[in-house]
Amino acid sequence: MCGIIGINSYKPVSSAIINSLKKLEYRGYDSAGIATLSSGLINEIKSEGRVDNLEKNSLVKKMEGTIGIGHVRWATHGIPSSLNAHPHSSQNVSVVHNGIIENSTILKKFLIGKGHKFKSQTDTEVIVHLITEHLKKENIINSIKKTLKLLHGSFALGIIFKDQPDLIIGARRGSPLAVGYGPNENYLGSDSYALKSMTNKITYLNDGEFCVIKKDLVEFFDEKGTKINKKVLELSSENQKYDKGDYKHFMAKEIDEQPMSIKNGIKEYLDTANNDINIFNFPWKIENISSVILIGCGTAYHSCLMAKYWFEELTSLDVSVDIASEFRYRKNRFKKDSLYIFVSQSGETADTYAALDLCNKNGMKTCGVVNVIESSIARDSKFVLPIHCGTEIGVASTKAFLGQMLILYILSLKLGLIRGDINKKKFSQKLKDLKVLPELVSKTLLIDNKIQTTSSTFIEAKGSMFLGRGFSYPIALEGALKLKELSYVHAEGYPAGEMKHGPLALIEEGMPVVVLAPRDNYYKKTISNMQEVIARGAKVLLITNKSKDEIVSENIWETIEVETTNEDLLPFLLTIPLQKLAYYSALKKGYDIDKPRNLAKSVTVE
Ligand code: G6P
Repeated sequence: MCGIIGINSYKPVSSAIINSLKKLEYRGYDSAGIATLSSGLINEIKSEGRVDNLEKNSLVKKMEGTIGIGHVRWATHGIPSSLNAHPHSSQNVSVVHNGIIENSTILKKFLIGKGHKFKSQTDTEVIVHLITEHLKKENIINSIKKTLKLLHGSFALGIIFKDQPDLIIGARRGSPLAVGYGPNENYLGSDSYALKSMTNKITYLNDGEFCVIKKDLVEFFDEKGTKINKKVLELSSENQKYDKGDYKHFMAKEIDEQPMSIKNGIKEYLDTANNDINIFNFPWKIENISSVILIGCGTAYHSCLMAKYWFEELTSLDVSVDIASEFRYRKNRFKKDSLYIFVSQSGETADTYAALDLCNKNGMKTCGVVNVIESSIARDSKFVLPIHCGTEIGVASTKAFLGQMLILYILSLKLGLIRGDINKKKFSQKLKDLKVLPELVSKTLLIDNKIQTTSSTFIEAKGSMFLGRGFSYPIALEGALKLKELSYVHAEGYPAGEMKHGPLALIEEGMPVVVLAPRDNYYKKTISNMQEVIARGAKVLLITNKSKDEIVSENIWETIEVETTNEDLLPFLLTIPLQKLAYYSALKKGYDIDKPRNLAKSVTVE
């Protein structure tokens, strides 16, 4: 999704801006641009496609200026094109914008009436013209304040001015924005990742705030324009040098990192000496919590769904799960004794953040399960459980999914124990099993050839289905999501028992169907559902776990056996072949695995 960078320095900035834009590429985007100020003029260069295209433009290399802004755009208003790419500039001012201006049509009409000419189809361009209009009568700060007041919707902005060789203005409402501090230069960025190669000293803007960035000074203001002091945070050096290593794609690396990331998560939360789980500083009395509401988007939503099964199995809490974009607009009945859990890898997903904000405003108990600990969701949740799986770059989430599931599983175990829903013996046994999970994930990762071979069938087919029951159902949804995200073929996840109520009509000769049937309580039922699809011509790829009991079924196309563990933990292992299936499918199609088309890593618009 869109990304912003701004640098105000004594040195030329164009190559540093391009390098920072490359750091933002992981977010997913379709065009890029840069504007610098030199000899009292704003120079703007933009291109469709990757930052590489922009960099190849010989004019970029020659670009002068010690102050500038850059942007990667993920189209919302207007097609992906160099014309619609940011920055957008008038003679006086140049703007980069993340977010959506909801009243742009009305504002555009008003500005056209005042004689302003628009070049692009974007909502952002109204900001440029509004500032330009206000500058006719006002100083810069007042022009910015008046412009921001007129905007409805969400934004993070970076702005430079023709006559101001030492000024970048940043402003935030709804979309994240950070300021970084360097030696004789200061920065603006839509996330700290873009700034990490230049500095580890960061300040995050809160909603409504804006800032003035000079080469030797940064000042912050609240919504009313009153000067405020803000903390400078020192980011850990962890993850600072995250690269692909010998891997062709981040996704392949991230899949392989899962034993280590699970190990890290376990190390953070398990108290091996006392055979316990450490969840320190939980701010509420656990006995006072009667229900849990889990909220997320995409893959994070699937980990919420998975957690519902564990919470119901291990605790007597009422559990519900919600997609953030639905939750935020529904008429919710907020209950004081509920724990609202927000799951997000990036911690910046706009819908998940809005749901959190809504709960905070209603005085609810809010808990963030996040990977990026400097993120908005981590900062604004009343309690945070980091997943500790390290930087994830591949747009399609892999290790963060296992990381989220791990933390939610650990939390359900702990709550189950404290509430007396499970006894110490059962708890200890589950901890024992959990400790060997990294090793089992490692072994399951060795399954490879069969997945590579079967992936050809999935990409050649019109579509495919992923079926599971109970604990395997959320994993079926995640498997289908991974395949469509990466290989752009239709894939549908479904509860195996529900097939006969409609989707069975889709099954035809040769259609590939993944059936997740581990040897758990649902095994026999799932195998019966599998027979129903085989009988209608489906090519079934059965994924189960190793067992001495033979699989009593005929006409299965292929079988993959993951390692064996208790049934709570099997979802972790079942996920792995599905991640690889999606990876190999996209690889065979020659698609951009780490940056699938139309998708973004950090979805900062609704
Ligand atoms: C985007 C990503 C998905 C991710 C979802 C939620 O759609 O492409 O991989 O699951 O956002 O992201 P979050 O950062 O909140 O987990």
